[in-house]
Amino acid sequence: MKKYKITLIKGDGIGPEIVDEAVKVLDAVASCSDFSFSYEEALMGGCAYDITGDPLPKETISIALNSDAVLFGAIGGEKWDALPREMRPESGLLRFRKELGVYANLRPAVVYDELINASSLKASVVKGVDLMVVRELIGGIYFGEPKGRTADKGWNTMVYTRDEIVRIAHQAFKIAMQRSKRVCSVDKANVLDVSQLWRDTVIEVAKEYPEVELSHMYVDNAAMQLIRDPRQFDVMLTGNIFGDILSDEASMLSGSIGLLPSASVGAKIGVYEPIHGSAPDIAGQGIANPIATIASASMMLRYGLDEIEAADKIDTAIKKALSEGYRTQDLAQFDAKEVCSTSEMGSIIANYIVR
Ligand code: IPM
Ligand code: MG
Repeated sequence: MKKYKITLIKGDGIGPEIVDEAVKVLDAVASCSDFSFSYEEALMGGCAYDITGDPLPKETISIALNSDAVLFGAIGGEKWDALPREMRPESGLLRFRKELGVYANLRPAVVYDELINASSLKASVVKGVDLMVVRELIGGIYFGEPKGRTADKGWNTMVYTRDEIVRIAHQAFKIAMQRSKRVCSVDKANVLDVSQLWRDTVIEVAKEYPEVELSHMYVDNAAMQLIRDPRQFDVMLTGNIFGDILSDEASMLSGSIGLLPSASVGAKIGVYEPIHGSAPDIAGQGIANPIATIASASMMLRYGLDEIEAADKIDTAIKKALSEGYRTQDLAQFDAKEVCSTSEMGSIIANYIVR
């Protein structure tokens, strides 16, 4: 029997509650599959800083690299906002991504029919939306040099090398091949040299995928088109900061940021996490929506462990819970038959899998 070693990084705020529910669901799916999981917890974020003085202890990296995949909750909170930048939880997360080499961040935005009224956009605009933002994650302005800060000046640099663009472009085209075979590359090539290199390089890589239709869009227009007509998109390929912004925007098409998962993959290992943050304001109350994390566990099975059937089982169970009218508090006003807690939602989804 296959045994997968999973690193659990629960993190801060609602992180522990939502990761616990994803584990419940993973165990349910393992109980009716030919594999099992073992888990090891590792620290990252504000909690890691509080205990070890470092938001990313070295041990966390070695535990992660020694496992088959990382399931991660969320980090951060006001409590740590005043720390020097390199001690902040966010810096731990950025270093973690870099150390693990997870250069491709996959962020699907799917509108569930059951929740179509939860979107702030009209149902007629968002019905059937199913897109994937492929965001470059360990380059661009987040990491470029030089960067710095004096009393009255601050600067960062957006840098991409050809190789960095080539590898993320391949990811996007490969994913498009499993979907509707359309890639829209998003840049700011009308202004930025780095974006012109991006565009030229994506055009070159596209030659290896003749079946995929490639288009280009400036990021400002893309932000507008996402709201105007989101169904035009299949895969949106973009750099680090544009992808950060566009994926938050895309998440709102679905109505709740509590629903959407993400995968960060590279040559070595993948990190699977909800796209939302640690929501310290609701932590510990049992009202957080665990679905984004449970869906991230499904992405872990699909993209990291190649257990497609098991991933499908989780996705089907999530849809079933929603179509039966189970809602956590964030979605209580949208056709709820029953409002449930974080852990009830986890159990409902787990039970649909086992049955
Ligand atoms: C995200 C977050 C992070 C990012 C922060 C917390 C560093 O916004 O994962 O989208 O900007 O990448
Ligand atoms: Mg973000």
